[in-house]
Amino acid sequence: MPCQSVLVLDFGGQYNQLIARRVRECNVYCEVKPYTLSLEEIRAFDPIGIIFTGGPNSVYDPSSPQVDPGIFQLGIPILGICYGCQLMAHHLGGRVVAATDDTAREYGKTETYFDTSCKLFQGLPEQGITWMSHGDYMEKVPEGFILAARSDACPNVAIADETRGFYGVQYHPEVNHTQHGTDMIRNFLYAVCGARGEWTMGDYKNTAIAAIREKVGSGRVLLALSGGVDSSVAAALLAEAVGKQLTCVFVDHGLLRLNEGDEVEAAFRPWDINFVRVDAETRFLLKLAGVTEPEHKRKIIGEEFIRVFEEEAKKIGAVDFLAQGTIYPDVIESGAGNAAVIKSHHNVGGLPDYVDFKEIIEPLRMLFKDEVRQLGRELGLPEYLVSRQPFPGPGLAIRVIGDLTKEKLDTLREADAIFRQEIADAGEDKNINQYFAVLTNTRSVGVMGDGRTYDYTLALRAVTTSDFMTADWARIPYDVLDKISVRIVNEVPGINRIVYDITSKPPATIEWE
Ligand code: XMP
Repeated sequence: MPCQSVLVLDFGGQYNQLIARRVRECNVYCEVKPYTLSLEEIRAFDPIGIIFTGGPNSVYDPSSPQVDPGIFQLGIPILGICYGCQLMAHHLGGRVVAATDDTAREYGKTETYFDTSCKLFQGLPEQGITWMSHGDYMEKVPEGFILAARSDACPNVAIADETRGFYGVQYHPEVNHTQHGTDMIRNFLYAVCGARGEWTMGDYKNTAIAAIREKVGSGRVLLALSGGVDSSVAAALLAEAVGKQLTCVFVDHGLLRLNEGDEVEAAFRPWDINFVRVDAETRFLLKLAGVTEPEHKRKIIGEEFIRVFEEEAKKIGAVDFLAQGTIYPDVIESGAGNAAVIKSHHNVGGLPDYVDFKEIIEPLRMLFKDEVRQLGRELGLPEYLVSRQPFPGPGLAIRVIGDLTKEKLDTLREADAIFRQEIADAGEDKNINQYFAVLTNTRSVGVMGDGRTYDYTLALRAVTTSDFMTADWARIPYDVLDKISVRIVNEVPGINRIVYDITSKPPATIEWE
C-alpha cells in the first residue's frame, strides 16, 4: 500500500460508500471490505484505523453479521457507526436492547449535545443536528467507555474509550443531514488515527502512472473510448503512462450531441497515442431505420457497437491488455466490498469475448466519481469532458421518440445545444444534475409570421438528483425558460412548440424512453 489507509468494514448498511467517500474527502485512502475479512487479512491490510459501518440487523439476530473479537486486540482505533457502534458495545461488555417504545427509537434529524473534550468532537459546536436511524440502543455502556454525546431521548448517542481509541456513534456522521459529520470523521482520522493526509489526486496520478508502466511493460493496450467521464479519464491516464502503446477506439455512432465527436477527438489529439475515430453513423442509422420500441433501439445499438469495435480490434491485431473505465462504486456494487450483491456490473457489456487480449486493466477501479473527475483535471483534460453530465450509451436514439431519421437527430441536436447553452449562461447548470431536450413524436399547429405551421413539439427535461435512482424536476426560473423557448422556436426549423417536463422520478423516469 503506497500510503496510509483506513479499512471500512461493511455490515450491509445503505451509506457504506458514502462513509468511504467522506474518508477520502479528508485526504485519507480507504477501502470498503466485507465484514467477513479475517484477522490475518486485516493485519495484512495494515490500516491506521477501522470503521464499522451501519447495517440493517440487530446484534441479537442469530444471523447478524459479527466480527472476530480479536479485532479489538489489534491496537488499531475503531469508529463504529450505528450498527457498528452497537456491535462494538455488545462485544466489549455493554448491553444493547431493542427499543420498545418510541422514546429510545430514533429516526431522522435529532438535536444532539456533544462533549467537546472528546477527540471525536474537538473544535466543534456543543450542540447540533445528527441523522439517526436506529431501532436498538445501548442500555449499558461497556467498561472503560464514557458517554460523549446525548440527545433528549437517549443518553448514549456517542461513546468513547480514548485510551484504546474506540469510538461509537448511534447516528450517521457520513450523511449531509448530520451537521459537522465530516469534521467528526476527520477528527477520528487525524486526532485519533494519526492520519497524515496523503491521499491527493496529484500524488495518485504519479503512483498510478508508475504502476501502469510496471504492469504493461512494453505491451499494447486497447481502450473503447465513449467520451464519457470514466473512459476519457482512463484514456488520459493510460496515455500519460504508456503513450503510443495505447490505442483508443472511439466509435462515433452518430447519436452524440452537437459537436461532441469533434470535442472528444480534439481532447485526445494532443496526446501521443493511437487514436481511431470510427464514423459509424450510416450503419447505425441503417440498422435503426423504422425501429420505434426503446428497448429494441438499445439492443440494436449495443450489438452494433460490439460489432464495430470488434472489426477495429481485428485490424489492430492481438493486444496484451484491454482497458476499461470501471470505477469503485461498480466494484463495491458487484460484491467485492459488500456481502449482499446488489447487481453484477459489466462496464462494457460482452466486449472481452470478442477481442483478442491477455488481460484486463482497470486503472480507475479504486476511485469514486468525484475522484475520477479530479484526476481528469490533474491530467489536463478540458473541463467540458471532466464535469460532463451523464449521457446514455444509446445517446440521442432514446431522445428522439419513435422512429429515427438523421433530420430528426439534427433538429434535436440544435435545440438541445441551445437549451444547454442557456442553462449554463444562466448559471443554472450548478443546480441541475442532468438536463437535455427530447424530440417528441407529436406535431401541432402553430402560426409563424403570417403562415400556419405543423411542426414538432420539443420537451425540455431537467432534474436534480444525487443518485439518479430518484429525481425531482428542476425549478428553472421562468425568464430562463422563456428565453430558451423563444430561441429554439426562432432558430430551429421544424419545432414550433416547447413544453417543460414537470414530473419527478418516480413515477416518471429521467429519460423519456
Ligand atoms: P432513467 O431514465 O432510467 O435514467 O431514469 C437514469 C440515468 O441513467 C441514464 N440512462 C442510461 N444510461 N444506457 C446508459 O448508459 C441507457 O440505456 C440508459 N438509459 C438511461 C439516464 O441518462 C440517467 O442518467
